[in-house]
Amino acid sequence: MCLKAEIDETAKWKVFEMTNQFESKVALVTGGNSGIGRAIALAFAEQGAKVVVAARRASEGHETVDMIEELGGQAHFVQTDVSKAAEVKAMVTACVSEYGGLDYAVNNAGTEGTPMVPTADYEEEAWDQVIDINLKGVWLCMKYEIPEMLARGQGAIVNMSSVAGMIGGRLGVAYYASKHGVIGATKAAALEYATQGLRINAVCPAVIETPMITRALEGNEDLVEQFRAAHPVGRFGKPAEVADATLWLCSEGASFVTGHSLPVDGGRLI
Ligand SMILES: NC(=O)c1ccc[n+]([C@@H]2O[C@H](COP(=O)([O-])OP(=O)(O)OC[C@H]3O[C@@H](n4cnc5c(N)ncnc54)[C@H](O)[C@@H]3O)[C@@H](O)[C@H]2O)c1
Repeated sequence: MCLKAEIDETAKWKVFEMTNQFESKVALVTGGNSGIGRAIALAFAEQGAKVVVAARRASEGHETVDMIEELGGQAHFVQTDVSKAAEVKAMVTACVSEYGGLDYAVNNAGTEGTPMVPTADYEEEAWDQVIDINLKGVWLCMKYEIPEMLARGQGAIVNMSSVAGMIGGRLGVAYYASKHGVIGATKAAALEYATQGLRINAVCPAVIETPMITRALEGNEDLVEQFRAAHPVGRFGKPAEVADATLWLCSEGASFVTGHSLPVDGGRLI
């Protein structure tokens, strides 16, 4: 079966038990219109949070909002390019004007970058695009989210890194550099605000079945098999599995966890 078909089959969102652990809280998810971000937005809503979905593509963003409303939850879409400071500032302002503040932020938006070429062939423009979205975008989000959380005296941020933030790999120098950078930025910010009620962590997924992976691997069954074999559990991960780890990092259960980078990787990094 081709990868796309497998993803279509497995992309049904996991049904959560409604525990309402985030009831009346406000959660922001960047890149919440697709893949991992959409699963995180749905998971927050299923646990009772009001969700602000931020992303560039409006139609898919409204789709996530519709899915949340069908579940009986509350959500609001804000069109945002995370690489642009004014838009990120407006995104955080929308959390306050729509729902009165911000409790949790998942800075998930990211791009794989194209084309996949060796370091010496990588173009400056392609480098800038990946770094601007994946690394500067995460910093800009934290820059505007943190003051809102400090105003409440508490908050949790989860930044989306990758196993590519912990080990090297070929044909994606900007992606690997950006995801390593996300871990560095997470640690620095976690230290700065540790005594002020903020916890800031990162998650590091291995290969997860999303549109990003379809774009990267579609049509190359040998590569799919090679990547799959690199995961000791013998399969790729699902967006809902990254959502589970992300929500845990935001939860009271992780009250003593900050500055941590959590692999969600089926054993990939063992
Ligand atoms: N799928 C994987 O195997 C995998 C593994 C490790 C880490 N990640 C990371 O997970 C995150 C989500 O990726 P995904 O796999 O769900 O892919 P995806 O392509 O489905 O989602 C990427 C999301 O980022 C958004 N985005 C991209 N550029 C943006 C910008 N400038 N402003 C606002 N939003 C922007 C897209 O609109 C989309 O919602 C990314 O940061 C990615 O690097 C993915």
